Amino acid sequence: MKQLVSILLLGLTSLATIAADLPADWRNWISVKTPLTEIGALPDCKADVSKLPPIYQETVATYCAVRAGGPGKVAVLVRPEAEKAYNKRSGGFPDGANMILHLKDMKALFVTFHQGDKASYKVMTEDGKDATAPSGPLAAQTCVTCHTGYKAFCKAGQCGTRK
Ligand code: HEC
Repeated sequence: MKQLVSILLLGLTSLATIAADLPADWRNWISVKTPLTEIGALPDCKADVSKLPPIYQETVATYCAVRAGGPGKVAVLVRPEAEKAYNKRSGGFPDGANMILHLKDMKALFVTFHQGDKASYKVMTEDGKDATAPSGPLAAQTCVTCHTGYKAFCKAGQCGTRK
């Protein structure tokens, strides 16, 4: 009986992690052109970003100090199954990991997941390990605050627009 319970628990735990896992083939996802990827990199705190829309200014303010010289080069990757929803910009995302903001110089991934079209956020290493912090710029709540705080920019957790 004890064994059965632990097998059941094991099963449940692996089910719970599946939805929150990053597929190993994320590097083959579609690399999209967005306002941020056109800028090319997230700068350090000395950059003059006063001409950018407020959400981009706040993004720079939040992340410019996470690394000396700023976070650096970025790419936005979209899971092929989520491309239609990404292009439409009105939600309708499939369940699972759908979008990545790849901080290439930091070898870090900002990942947006959906479950029933509800977005959740994680920071991950390039090999898919969870690196979300309990507080500060790399905390899930920081992602939520910004990704829900700018209604004109973010729809169903998606802030960028394909160019
Ligand atoms: C202060 C605002 C802000 C914070 C905080 C923030 N983001 Fe974003 N995020 C943006 C903006 C703006 C874009 C769109 C950039 C572009 O492609 O032009 C974006 C883009 C993304 C993308 C690419 C898909 C999309 O939504 O366009 C992902 C994935 C992402 N963020 C995940 C995260 C995660 C995970 C966190 C927390 C660790 C986070 N973000 C924190 C503003 C923010």
